[in-house]
Amino acid sequence: MLNKLIIKKKIKTFHKKIKISGDKSISIRWVLLASLANGRSRAKNLLLSEDVISSINAIKKFGIKVKYNANYCDIYGKGLNGYKFQKNIIIDSGNSGTLGRLIMGLLINTPYPIKLIGDKSLSKRDFKRIADPLSKFGAKFQLKKGINLPLKIYGSNKLQGFKYFEKKGSAQCKSAVIFAGMRAEGSTIIKAKKSRNHTELLYKYLKLPIYINKKKNFDFIKINKIKKINTINYDIPSDISSSAFFIALTTLVNDSSLIIKNVNTNPTRIGVVTILKKMGANITFKNKSTYNGEERADIHIKSVNNLNPINCPISLNSKAIDEFLIIFLVAAKANGVSSFKNLSELDKKESPRLQLGSKLLRSMGVKTITTKNSIKIFGDPNLEINKKIIIKDYFKDHRIFMTSVVAALSFGGNWEIHDKDSIKTSFPKFLNIINDLINDKKKKKYY
Ligand code: S3P
Repeated sequence: MLNKLIIKKKIKTFHKKIKISGDKSISIRWVLLASLANGRSRAKNLLLSEDVISSINAIKKFGIKVKYNANYCDIYGKGLNGYKFQKNIIIDSGNSGTLGRLIMGLLINTPYPIKLIGDKSLSKRDFKRIADPLSKFGAKFQLKKGINLPLKIYGSNKLQGFKYFEKKGSAQCKSAVIFAGMRAEGSTIIKAKKSRNHTELLYKYLKLPIYINKKKNFDFIKINKIKKINTINYDIPSDISSSAFFIALTTLVNDSSLIIKNVNTNPTRIGVVTILKKMGANITFKNKSTYNGEERADIHIKSVNNLNPINCPISLNSKAIDEFLIIFLVAAKANGVSSFKNLSELDKKESPRLQLGSKLLRSMGVKTITTKNSIKIFGDPNLEINKKIIIKDYFKDHRIFMTSVVAALSFGGNWEIHDKDSIKTSFPKFLNIINDLINDKKKKKYY
């Protein structure tokens, strides 16, 4: 099968109701926690992407039984100390930073060294940011060049809680410490810059001893050692990060509308909506509800004729951290210069996203001024592309692929986008939904 996508035509008007796959952050956390529960946990709408399959394969290495099909996934946890540790276990995190980093927290008590590996992109990423705080509990880590994968975990059975200051706004760092904290003696106290809080909400739902004191810029979190995790039956909402590509597409094309059903609208995740609304996008949440502490809603989007530029408040950065590529693309159509700052973390994702996002815009003829942690985008409301654009050598970053598809369908041009299989990491059904929108013959308006 050809692993590149050719797009030569803009998408036409569409009016559709769609369903997006399950949230990746919640799916991975559910798999990991369910593997330590006492008994069978069942998830519906679990994301079956490569990152989540890697998580399932990881827990299977410790003797945990998993059954899944298109409708649900069952995990047969054997309790907090139920992992069967053996010599020479290798965990392959594939492309997933969330799995690689969170599982380090879970494996902190391993009696045998465990090797953690990942794909080419993950092997370039920073794992010292996890090894450093986890070492404070009493475990040891050996990393390639002191920073990268492959790494080895040397666990300890004398773990001691400590005080950790998480300054990056990284939910992965925070969650790894929360996971390790539940195995340590005494309390673990985290002062964490605001970031997504799915781990904390799952702990609360499971009635585990976690105490959270929210301040303006930081959360103070206390975790005590736990004895038991109850089974976790969970109906996973759709992923806002995957939805963002369709929110942007509908915003950018003419006279279209879209309803995305049952999306996770956790306030720590919806920066993309806040930013696009500030730019003039027409996005509303309907049918709002709360499920185990997680907010969810149907998202209604309508195209708009005019988009304002934005001077993006840095307080929104962590809430939109995975969505900046697609936000930059919307800024390319704004009526003026948009500015985004304090984004050094973006270059530490699956690819150097700030630099590659800027490169993508420039290849489209959009002027940008980019530094190591900021970008200015000179928007053009009449942006039209009439040339050939080839997208390749981008570390197979799924979000670069999907942003390029939205760019091609919104602005025209003759696109050749390589490494189509990159979407398998987070959103295998992305192109199926795109095809449904392209083939919308009925053009029936839902509202
Ligand atoms: C994630 C946290 C974020 C995000 C990643 C998923 C999570 O990373 O970029 O895609 O599920 O905890 P950081 O915590 O490193 O910012």
